[in-house]
Amino acid sequence: QVPELEKATVRIQQPERVLGIIRAIKEQGMNKLQVISDFDMTLSRFGCNGRRCPTSHNILDNSRVISEDGKKKLKDLLHHYYPIEIDPNRTLEEKRPLMLAPVWGGLKHESLRLAPRCELGGGGTMLCNGHVCSRDGFNEMFDQLHKYNVPLFIFSAGVGDILEEIIRQANVFYSNVNVVSNYMDFDDNGVLRRFKGPLIHTYNKNNSVLQGTEYFQQLSTRTSIILLGDSMGDLTMADGVPSVENILKIGFLNDKVEERRGKYLDAYDIVLESDETLDVVNGILRYIL
Ligand code: C5P
Ligand code: MG
Repeated sequence: QVPELEKATVRIQQPERVLGIIRAIKEQGMNKLQVISDFDMTLSRFGCNGRRCPTSHNILDNSRVISEDGKKKLKDLLHHYYPIEIDPNRTLEEKRPLMLAPVWGGLKHESLRLAPRCELGGGGTMLCNGHVCSRDGFNEMFDQLHKYNVPLFIFSAGVGDILEEIIRQANVFYSNVNVVSNYMDFDDNGVLRRFKGPLIHTYNKNNSVLQGTEYFQQLSTRTSIILLGDSMGDLTMADGVPSVENILKIGFLNDKVEERRGKYLDAYDIVLESDETLDVVNGILRYIL
């Protein structure tokens, strides 16, 4: 009933189990469903025309508000940490203490003198320069969830101000969309001082950074979950949901596909290999909703 599952990019370790979960979610109905999703490289594309697409961090890093020297520092930092982030041979425990550095370590040396709203929103300068690419099917996914009033929780270790602007500019920032991410905190002179709240990095996307938000408590009757991610760190995003009856985990395997396939197949119910679209997600939603 979900023809998209026949796509060549789809890999499933336990097809019967997965079909069972999808059927169970459909039986429970849309009033029991919530979607929890990562943003960068999950709702946005990993590559386009043979080139890497920027993350929300990269858009900030590449923007004209960062000095040339700062850009180089940020690039070096990412080149050092990104291989660690995706290394299949290191445990999450080894990676976790290292992951704060690339979120804030480069920016703290920059005096970011900018008016954030105007820079981000005023004609979307920063976004245009960064060539934001959302996956094909981005608008359809948001539209479907909005139509059936299914809550969408976006849990991102990226830069909240930037990814919110991407969603806003696509005209899909509906009332059912909630974002928890790193938001820039500017002082009275427009200088970026820090991110607000606890820093979210790739491997602390769990209840520890959601304390006090009450988000999942308010949705406690929504016991069917579709979780979308691209990192092993995204698997814990639903840990704060008080009662889970059915959970379907869909993972985008974008990079180092061969090396990471085994681990992804063990962890995610459905693995999408080098698939730059939201076709499978939209196909499943069309079947369920
Ligand atoms: O939205 P998500 O949680 O995926 O945001 C984290 C992403 O940002 C990861 O893909 C990570 O590689 C990337 N990142 C980056 N530059 C940084 C820190 C993280 O591109 N300085
Ligand atoms: Mg991601």
